[in-house]
Amino acid sequence: MTRTSQRILITAALPYANGYVHLGHLAGAYLPADMYARYQRLNGREVLFLCGSDEHGVAITVSAEHEKVTPKQIIDRYHPDNESAFRKFGMSFDQYSRTSIPLHHETAREFFSEFHAAQILKEREERQFYCEFDKLFLADRYVEGICPVCKYDKARGDQCENCGSWLNQLELIDAKCKLCGRTPVVRSTRHWYFPLGEYQERLQAYIQERDARDGWRETVLRYCESWFRQGLQDRAVTRDLTWGVPVPVKGFEHKVIYVWFDAVLGYISAAKEWAVNRSVPEAWRAYWQDESTKYVAFIGKDNVVFHCIVFPAMLMAWNDHHTSRFVLPENVPANEFLNLEGQKFSKSRGWGIDLRDFLRFFPADALRFALAANLPETKDADFSMKEFQARVNNELADIVGNFINRTLAFVARNFGGVAPASGVPDERDKAMLEVLRNAPANIGDLYERYKFREVVAETVNVARIANKYFNDSEPWKTIKQNPSKCATTIAVSLQTVSALSVLLRPIVPVLAQGIDRLLDQTAVEEKGTWKTAGDRPVPAGHKLPTPGILITKVEDEAIAAMSREMTASEGPAGVPSENLISIDDFRKVVLKVARVVSAERIAKSEKLLRLIVEIAGEERQIVAGIAKHYAPETLVDKRVVVVANLQPAKLMGLESRGMLLAANADDGTLRIVVVEGEIPTGSVVR
Ligand code: 2FM
Ligand code: ZN
Repeated sequence: MTRTSQRILITAALPYANGYVHLGHLAGAYLPADMYARYQRLNGREVLFLCGSDEHGVAITVSAEHEKVTPKQIIDRYHPDNESAFRKFGMSFDQYSRTSIPLHHETAREFFSEFHAAQILKEREERQFYCEFDKLFLADRYVEGICPVCKYDKARGDQCENCGSWLNQLELIDAKCKLCGRTPVVRSTRHWYFPLGEYQERLQAYIQERDARDGWRETVLRYCESWFRQGLQDRAVTRDLTWGVPVPVKGFEHKVIYVWFDAVLGYISAAKEWAVNRSVPEAWRAYWQDESTKYVAFIGKDNVVFHCIVFPAMLMAWNDHHTSRFVLPENVPANEFLNLEGQKFSKSRGWGIDLRDFLRFFPADALRFALAANLPETKDADFSMKEFQARVNNELADIVGNFINRTLAFVARNFGGVAPASGVPDERDKAMLEVLRNAPANIGDLYERYKFREVVAETVNVARIANKYFNDSEPWKTIKQNPSKCATTIAVSLQTVSALSVLLRPIVPVLAQGIDRLLDQTAVEEKGTWKTAGDRPVPAGHKLPTPGILITKVEDEAIAAMSREMTASEGPAGVPSENLISIDDFRKVVLKVARVVSAERIAKSEKLLRLIVEIAGEERQIVAGIAKHYAPETLVDKRVVVVANLQPAKLMGLESRGMLLAANADDGTLRIVVVEGEIPTGSVVR
């Protein structure tokens, strides 16, 4: 059975501070984590919600080399930008930390030193790829090759992004140095190993127990099983790099701790930083080191092994040797991937939408709603701008917004903007009130089981039922025939609006607060309101405003504007735009080189010329609108580019079979596209 702990520790994967957080990240870990944190607070729990930047590892140094700046410059740019984008998105972190702070270095070094002192870590000589050109051991992302498991051709030295395998770099097929592209040699170097294999049985028991108690996701269990089936291997936890947490062992000071060993400990440092900021430096222990705490770690699927296997094993190792014991994750609700318009988010291919950019065009709540309704919980999901628009307009605006609006508008129009006192409820009213009374428990149960898509569907469903209730009650008729019945309908509807303001809060916090303001319920204590959400009638006599527009619909023009601006600023790749076409679309257009055989004016037309062109021996008539820009005789023998597979059209009574390509200058002149040299006609232009 799900544990009902008073204190809940929630972490969301620490994003690398080498790029901007994008929609895929939000759907993977952050939005579900925030919905869960907000729900639990409303539910009266003590919540500590942590995140921060992952600032070490080769991800950062490769970006730095790429941009020709220092790793520090990279993290100092992306950390604050990501933090502020997260805030704008409504992430309610209690602490957004970063792994470059001294407090984190101390934590990571303490774990390492303790493991070293307890002889948990083993020193070993290891064969590793070494690039003789760059004079460097190729740690992690410095080497790339074909994944031995899934054959993805850009697998990195430690991890395959495609199938999630955690690799030993020597397993890579056709490995190449990422810096110079050369084939590396294999050399020996000394490293410290964490004996993961020794923990396998305990880890299996741990996952089984937690799954039985808290219902782990099938997908997560399957990943873990495949790890266990392969048998856990000892893993090197040091690296021959200079950027990172220096290894606190004599003779190894010039090496750094493996980024994943330090990153997962970032969750602990974040809690420490939170405690320090509140001037209660030991307060973090109440979460991390109190066994009644329920710890839930939100991640994307590519992080499963580190959170379900490596991190718990590290915590077990610590707990074996200390009386101050850490809690292990009760659950790791990992999401699958979100694709964008059918394609994987990819930084290298420039395919993605950053949160920062998105929020310049659309409100955070619109994005939260559309993403939450379509989270990749059991399988990969796809985000498209069309679906985003449809979700916001057809569900959030037309169902939720519409209900709130029509209720308040009715009060303004028929009750002078004052909440009426309810009459005696009939069966229909009672049924609606019953829906409200049950909603917090029903939806709460979905939160407890990490089913956030269903949370959204069920929350919208309350509004959907309420719209039907409003329609069936026909208050616009009863206002004349039976005013007391009308008053009851409206009182119940207002109570529904009030319930929605609580139920919507984890999903769309800004909108929910807006509703609270309309109902003048800002004084309602946030904590603990969840359970009684259905039972907060708006008091009779309460003055209510005429509602303005609560939810702005997503217009085609706004989507086009975003696409235009992002395409302009970031180049053609990476923006799902109505204006972008696939290569297959492009291939439909057959462009060919043609030679102008003859050209003449067309009687009564100022604009058109009649051309005969020759394409690979075939002559065609083309009517072109270039008479103002070219004297016909100057065109003869020019090699031009024509769209050869255009449907024939009639212009001034003449058939035109094809179209000339021409550039439109700002001053209104037209310049035809001419191919240089004696290229054979019929040649395909691509
Ligand atoms: O995959 C990533 O983006 C990692 N930076 C996640 C780290 S989660 C935790 F271990 F810090
Ligand atoms: Zn090299």
